Amino acid sequence: MDLQPQLLVIFGSSGDLMRRKLAPALLRLAEQGLLPERFAVLGFARTEMDDDSFKAMLEDALKVDRKSDAWGWLCERIFYCRGGYGDPESMRLLKERVSELDEKFRLDGNRLFYLATPPEVFDDLVIGLRESGLNKSNGWVRIVVEKPFGNDLESAQNLNRLLWTAFDESSIYRIDHYLGKETVQNLLVLRFGNTIFEPLWNYRFVDHVQITVAESDGVGTRGRYYDAAGALRDMVPNHIFQLLTLVAMEPPISLEADAVRDEKLRVLKSIKPFEPEEVDENVVRGQYGAGEIDGHPVPAYRDEPYVNPNSTTETFVAMRLFVHNWRWEGVPFYLRTGKRLPRRVTEIQIQFRPVPYLLFPPETTGQLKPNLLTLRIQPDEGIILRVETKVIGMGMQVRSTPLDFYYSQLGTKIPDAYERLLLDAMRGDQTLFMRADEVEAAWRIVTPILHRWQTTPAPKFPNYNAGTWGPNEADELLRRDKREWLTS
Ligand code: BG6
Repeated sequence: MDLQPQLLVIFGSSGDLMRRKLAPALLRLAEQGLLPERFAVLGFARTEMDDDSFKAMLEDALKVDRKSDAWGWLCERIFYCRGGYGDPESMRLLKERVSELDEKFRLDGNRLFYLATPPEVFDDLVIGLRESGLNKSNGWVRIVVEKPFGNDLESAQNLNRLLWTAFDESSIYRIDHYLGKETVQNLLVLRFGNTIFEPLWNYRFVDHVQITVAESDGVGTRGRYYDAAGALRDMVPNHIFQLLTLVAMEPPISLEADAVRDEKLRVLKSIKPFEPEEVDENVVRGQYGAGEIDGHPVPAYRDEPYVNPNSTTETFVAMRLFVHNWRWEGVPFYLRTGKRLPRRVTEIQIQFRPVPYLLFPPETTGQLKPNLLTLRIQPDEGIILRVETKVIGMGMQVRSTPLDFYYSQLGTKIPDAYERLLLDAMRGDQTLFMRADEVEAAWRIVTPILHRWQTTPAPKFPNYNAGTWGPNEADELLRRDKREWLTS
């Protein structure tokens, strides 16, 4: 697929996202020959740098030198512009630079702006782009926005309204990097590229669904952001809800961006926001204390850098919710995510109902378990179906056997999510990006939880030790329903 000529302008290009994700993605795309010949990248940030020192910074991050073909090719197309976000004079200089590069590389006026900055400057940048007229050109203009998209329903609506003053919804690309993960996209193929799962994919056969996004890392150096956000905002309205919508959605009428996004939206709209008392019953929050991960001691959340020593921010959240429609009525979806859990694992588990009549008595044959389909998103990406089989021998013993497929068996490297998403934005495919109404529908579910938490005292934090699976209340949430978390 040939990409149109274009200029990629990255705001916040001296930052972490550029070094860790965007620059490696660009390099990989260049290595695979996927970037257009007529192409340039213009970094923009407050840090004092020029073109050369910017390239040197990237080389250091990428551990490459100019002798490598792909990097050498890219280097001829990388530039830097220093300035204040939204500051009129900086925007004027930026505009000059954009025109210059447009002419030099014959980019046909096509521009992709990428907001890789902290969210505090989103507003100024969007206003700056609008006021300077950078949002208009004789080619196409698109904007990529990184999460967080607001921190509650109202701020998300305000951000959307502001974006629309400068860009059309069809030019706005809200990144949720989970959608760029190969295994997440595979969900669509698994569900709609096979006939055997779909007839079972409903309340008649599914007992419940679990989604776990566990991290063994703590907050690292991101304490300042995280202490204001918390696990709920950081992970649920975006990554976890995206996984949930892909599991629960109806077959879209096509793979067109809006056809897929319409179906995902319908799922979110089928989840009834909690009443205040329902929050207490269905949502658990936790914060880690000191503990051990892989045999190494790790500090409590309150002792992490940039975290308030009396913080009541949650680093763990678990919840039970229902998707009210014909397919899913009565099937609980249990979601959980947290930092400093025993290991890093993201998986979706579809537990099917037990057999209707027990032909094999447990006293003589052993315990029969219900079928379980595990979609392992990371780290060991794969699909595992648990089936019950006979133990070889003269008796009639049963046991669980996994039918499994791991991506590692293919021996192909799985591309990073940013590679895919950057390429999609460059070619103008919005399928894997969140639409404004999806973002708002997600906040409509999460905001009542935030409100309830603001008005009720936090549990006595810390309430779980680093290296454990979260507070006891999270287990209790499932025990009440005579179920248990399946990852261990
Ligand atoms: C980010 C969150 O969006 O996703 C982080 O802000 C989290 O807190 C990260 O660690 C998880 O992403 P991944 O791809 O490592 O699962």
